[in-house]
Parts: sequence; structure tokens; C-alpha cells
Amino acid sequence: MINAQQKKLLQDLAAKHGTPVLVVDHEKLRQNYLEFREKLPTVQAYFAVKANSDPAIIKTMYDMGASFDVASFQEFMKVYNNIKHLPEKDRQQFIWDNIIYANTIKPASILKKLNIYKPLVTFDNIEELKKIKKNAPDVRLVLRIRVPNTGSMVELSSKFGVHPGEAVDLMEEAIKMGLGVEGISFHVGSQCNNFENYVLALSLSSSIFKEAKLRGLDIGFTDKDGKRMKVLDIGGGFPVKYTPDVKSFTLLAKKINSEIKRMFNGDVDPIAEPGRFMVANACTLVTKIIGKSIRDGKTCYYLDDGVYNTFSGQIYDHQSYPLHSFKDGEKKVCATFGPTCDAFDTISLSDELPEDLEIGDLLYAENMGAYTTASSSFFNGFKPTKIIAINKYAPFDPCPCGSGKQFKDCGILNTEEHTSLHHLMSKDTNGKESKEKKSETKVVEKEKAQK
Ligand SMILES: Cc1ncc(COP(=O)(O)O)c(C=O)c1O
Repeated sequence: MINAQQKKLLQDLAAKHGTPVLVVDHEKLRQNYLEFREKLPTVQAYFAVKANSDPAIIKTMYDMGASFDVASFQEFMKVYNNIKHLPEKDRQQFIWDNIIYANTIKPASILKKLNIYKPLVTFDNIEELKKIKKNAPDVRLVLRIRVPNTGSMVELSSKFGVHPGEAVDLMEEAIKMGLGVEGISFHVGSQCNNFENYVLALSLSSSIFKEAKLRGLDIGFTDKDGKRMKVLDIGGGFPVKYTPDVKSFTLLAKKINSEIKRMFNGDVDPIAEPGRFMVANACTLVTKIIGKSIRDGKTCYYLDDGVYNTFSGQIYDHQSYPLHSFKDGEKKVCATFGPTCDAFDTISLSDELPEDLEIGDLLYAENMGAYTTASSSFFNGFKPTKIIAINKYAPFDPCPCGSGKQFKDCGILNTEEHTSLHHLMSKDTNGKESKEKKSETKVVEKEKAQK
């Protein structure tokens, strides 16, 4: 739950920018990235852009030293925009070391384009392999295997991943075609609350690597010390605490660290593709009541955002986002609907809200950063929700106003980013600590990039 000060900020932002508006807290993004890196220190984090491809979010992730998982050439270019100013050699190095095109199915035309940049790409079937051989023989390959997705909110194994029993044969086919196979990837299903999925997937990966070795297949890449290493891509799935029953990421991270240590002999380079974990809790939606009625005795609120827009996550991501009122009042079970002419555009038939809210009042919903605006549409002509940033700059970043001062020391611009960050800094003396953590993380990323 958010406090009174945060509520005031959300209301001010809604007044300034209009509604519906998705407020992205970049300080929270930075914290999420640092938490991931601290708890899984050997795992390189490739932010899964599909969760939220807002350019400002990608930029913050880039500034933190993140790597990227892209699912389309459009997403690839959104990441590329952050590196296009680099000298060609550094740009290419970044693509090699920090981007994975983790969509197992790629049109031939896209493969041709990818062959220019040569990122890591995933595959899971022989037809894809033939297409890759013909159109993108220079990309480096990671084989996606099918793993149990039991207990995950969004299941992916019905569509993706070669059966583990066929994995080594497929890698052998790729090698016979003259393609380079660097490792294995899996995805345990998104919002995974069953940690055994990771253990089973790691165990399957370990067995596949062992069998490939027995068959004499040369899987992997040569690192900067000349050692043969294999990519072990543990995918996404890292759960977000939407509700108290969601298990702790700290526990999961401990399990993953110990199982990787136990099952692999230090010859794997672990990477992950966290999407939801990075963005979900960094975003809060503010929406306005645009209509009100009583139907069958129940109060119904009609909002300016709905399931064809930011609440699309309810449909595609199977997530719910309880709405809260800025006004106090006795709560009753109410219905909330989106603005379109479709009855399917029902946000909830049981949101707990005061009954006496009026047209023009604002509501908010937290944890709306992942798979929300990402899948919104223009249905009925309504535009996707506006996305705005707060705390965009880290305290020790140079201030974008050009004063030459660090952002935390600069009061020249009186934007909400300045105001809210300065406010945060005066409350929170951990700013220094987070700078140190950030630079530590950058060092780790740099070391990895030199491999
Ligand atoms: C290949 C791949 N990687 C990563 C992700 C991100 O997963 P999550 O948001 O659960 O971390 C997804 C989500 O669908 C995916 O399909």
C-alpha cells in the first residue's frame, strides 16, 4: 500500500498529465535490478523487454548495466537505440555479450537482418535450424528445452522447447550443419511460484550437457581466458509479490545458486531473462471514473482505462490489479468497467471501493508494470495509456539540466523528477550505498562483457 505522500504525488501527476496515466518509478527499477544481481551474483541479467518496452525503462536498465532479451526485431532496435552512439567495435561487442533474441520462431527476413548483428538466438526445432542455416548462419545458437511449468501463472511449455529426450540430437544436427551451439535455455513459466520447476529444469539441462559431452559434441564458446564455457539460460519466471502467498525471491535465488553450483562444474555461464521481476512493482496506474450507475443493486464505476488497455494483463497475463480509491469511505463490493462498448471490458465485478465516489474521482492500481501496457490496443479508438517517469535519474548521475552537478545536488530544474528524487534523498540516506552497489554491478557486467 502506498503512503499519503505518494498518493499526493500520483494525484498531482494525474492532474498534470491527465488520465489514464502509468507512473513508472525508475528508482524502483534500479532497486529491482540491483536486488536481482545481488541475490544471483553469478547470473547475467538480460531484461526481457517484452514485459514493458517503454524506451525510458530500457534506458534505465541499460544505464544500470543490464543485458537484454528481445523477442522481435522492433525490440532489438529499441535496445540498439541505446548503443548506436558507440564506436562500431563496442557496439558489436555489446550485441555479442548483452543481447539474446529469445524467440524460437523467426521469419526468414528477420533472420537475414539478425545475421548482420550476430546476437545469440534461441531455437527448438529442425525447421527453424534449416531456416537459420539458410538465412543467418553467423548467429550463435542456444537450444530451448521444454521443462515443467507446473504451478506457474503463465505456462509456456505447450508452445516452446524441444523435448529433453531429443535435445542432444538437435544440437548434433546444428553442429553438422556447421552452426555454433553455445548452450541451453529454458523457461519455467511466468510468475513461477513452484520453485521445483527451476530445480527440475537445471537437472534436465545438466543431463543434456553430460550426454552431449559423451557424444563428443563441442557445445559452448571460448571465454577471455581461453576456457570452453556453455551458456546456461535459466529464462524468466521470477515471481513478484502481487499477493502475500507468493514465495520469496530470496529463497528462490538461494536455491538457484546452490543448484547451479551442485549440478555444473563451473563450466557454465549462467544468464537469465527476468521481465516481470524488473518492472511489475515499479508502475502504478491512475485512472478516472468517467461514469457511474447502479445495476442490480451494485455500484458500477466506468473508468477511462480497461482490459483493452492497461488492464489487458488481466486477459493475457492472468493477473488481477485491485483498484483503490484516493478518498476514504466504507468499502462495498463494486463493479469496475473499462471505457469501450464491449461488456467483456470488465475489470472486476468485486473491487472493494467506497460507494459514494463521483464521476471525476481518481482510482489507482499498483504493480501494473509487467505485461500491461505491453499488450494494450487501440480498440474503440482509445489511445494506449500515457507512461510517465518519476525518479528517472539516479542520485549520482550527472544532472540532465547541464549544470554539471550530480542530480541529487541540483535544484535548477523543478520537474517532478527532481522534486520527488530530492524528497527521496532527504528521507533516505541510503543513496550513497546504492551508488556503491551500482558501481559494483557495473564492474561485474564489464568483466562479463570482456569474456
Ligand atoms: C523467452 C522468454 N524469456 C523471458 C520471459 C520473461 O519472463 P518473466 O516475465 O516471467 O520473467 C518470457 C516471458 O514470456 C519469455 O517468453
